[in-house]
Amino acid sequence: MSKKVAIIGTGYVGLTTGVALSYLGCEVTCLDVDAEKVKTLKAGKCPIYEPHLAELMDLAKKNLKFTTDAKEALAKAEVIFIAVGTPSNADGTPNLTYLKSAAQSVGANIESPFVVIVNKSTVPIGSGNWVESIVRDAYRGQNQTQKSKFTVASNPEFLREGSALSDMLYADRIVVGADDPKAVEVLRDLYKPLIEQTFLAPGFLMRPEGFKSVHFLASDLQSAELIKYAANAFLALKISFINEIAELSEKVGADITHIAKGIGLDSRIGNRFLQAGIGWGGSCFGKDTAALIATGQEYGLNMPISKAAKDVNSRQRIRVVDILMNELKILKGKKIGILGLAFKPFTDDLRDAPAYEIVQKLIERGAKVVVYDPVAMERAQKEWKGLEIEYANGAMEVFQESDAVCLITEWPEFASLAFDEAASAMRNKFILDGRGLFEQAKLQKLGLKTTILGRSS
Ligand SMILES: NC(=O)c1ccc[n+]([C@@H]2O[C@H](COP(=O)([O-])OP(=O)(O)OC[C@H]3O[C@@H](n4cnc5c(N)ncnc54)[C@H](O)[C@@H]3O)[C@@H](O)[C@H]2O)c1
Repeated sequence: MSKKVAIIGTGYVGLTTGVALSYLGCEVTCLDVDAEKVKTLKAGKCPIYEPHLAELMDLAKKNLKFTTDAKEALAKAEVIFIAVGTPSNADGTPNLTYLKSAAQSVGANIESPFVVIVNKSTVPIGSGNWVESIVRDAYRGQNQTQKSKFTVASNPEFLREGSALSDMLYADRIVVGADDPKAVEVLRDLYKPLIEQTFLAPGFLMRPEGFKSVHFLASDLQSAELIKYAANAFLALKISFINEIAELSEKVGADITHIAKGIGLDSRIGNRFLQAGIGWGGSCFGKDTAALIATGQEYGLNMPISKAAKDVNSRQRIRVVDILMNELKILKGKKIGILGLAFKPFTDDLRDAPAYEIVQKLIERGAKVVVYDPVAMERAQKEWKGLEIEYANGAMEVFQESDAVCLITEWPEFASLAFDEAASAMRNKFILDGRGLFEQAKLQKLGLKTTILGRSS
C-alpha cells in the first residue's frame, strides 16, 4: 500500500526527495513556509535549477501536492521527512531554528496512529533525541482526538546538487539510524523500490548499466548522524589534499593531473574527488566541517585534520587573487572577466560559492569585474546585491577589453568557446583556469597566456 508522506522544506533536498518518492508511488505533500516558492511549485514550475527535476515533477504530479498549511501536510502523514536548512552560526555550530520550528509543527499537527519522523536535514549528533522531545512537548499541547504514536529516525542525505535526482534514484547507499526497529522497517519498506531497483527508470534518467541494488545500512541514531558529517569532512579533505599537493607540484614543475591519476589508480584511494582547482564551496562542506569541529570542541576534542581541510580550501581562493596580482601587478582599474558563479556546474546555488569571495576581493582592490554563468545570473543579481559587478549577456562578453579572465566554475560549454575571438577581444591576454578545464596548448597557440592551478606554467 502506498504510504502517505510529508516533506517539510522544499529546497534542494526536500524537493528532490518529494519528487522521487511521489514518482515511486507514495502520496507526497510538501510543506514550506515560503509562500512564493509554494506558489511556483503549485503552478508546476521548479524554483531551483536542478537537471531533470522539473521533468520528473511533471511525471509524478498526480501523487504530489504543495502547501503552506501544516495541518494539510502533516495530519494524515505516516512518514514525515524534515529537510529544512541547518546553516552555520558565526561560531561554526549549526543554526537549529528551522529544525526546531519544523519539529514543533510536527508535534502540533500529527494525527496518524503511528508516525515516523525522519531527520533528513544534516543535524548535529543528538538531534534525533532533541527533535523527539520537541515533538512530544508540542504534541501534548494539541487537542488530541485520537492518540498518535511517533518515533524519530535519522536518514542523512548524500545527494550532490547538479546530479541530485540521479544520486537519489541510483544512490551508493541509504543510511537509516533509529533506536526503534519499527522505524527502520517502515523506511526500508518505503525505499524498497530504490533498494531493489524495481521502479521503471524515467527515460531521461536511465538506470546505469549493471546497477542492480542500493545498499541499505541501518544503525543507531548517533552513528547515522555522524556518518553524514564524517562523509562530508572526508570528501572536503580529499579535495584539499589534492590542492595542497597541486601547489607543491607547481613549485617543482610537476603536473597535478598525472599525479591525481597516478594516486587515483590505487584502489585504496580511488580517482574521484581528486581534481585540483579552486576548491570546494556550496552549502554543505564548509558548514558540515565547521559543525564537526564544533562538536569535537564540545567534547574537548581537537580535530586538526578537519581544520586543515578548511584552511587549505580558504587559501585556494586567496591564491586566485594573488596570481592575478602577480600577473597584472596593479588591479586598480583593470577589467577582470569571471566565467562561472555557482559553486559547481549544473546548479544555480550560490551558497559559499568561491566566485563570491574572489569577486569581492578583486573589487576591494579596485578592479572592474564582469561575470557570466549559464544558470545562476538571475540569482546572483538578487543575492549579491552588495557587489558592484557587471553582468554579461553571454560568455564571450567577459573577454571584451578584459585584462584577465578567470574560469571559476567548470561548465563544459566553456571548454568550447571561440577562443580565437576571445583572444582578439582581450586587452591583455591572460587566462587563469581555476579548474583545469581548458586545453592549455590550444590557448597558447592563440597567444593567450594561461595559468592552470596545479600545473607549472
Ligand atoms: N543542498 C545539498 O546539496 C544538500 C545535500 C545533503 C544534505 N543537505 C542538508 O539538507 C538540509 C536542507 O538543505 P537544502 O539545501 O535543501 O536547503 P534549502 O535552504 O535549499 O531549503 C530549505 C527549505 O526549508 C524551508 N523551511 C525552513 N523552515 C521551515 C519550516 N519550519 N517549515 C517548512 N519549511 C521550512 C525553507 O523555506 C526552504 O525552502 C540541510 O540540513 C543540508 O545541510 C543538503
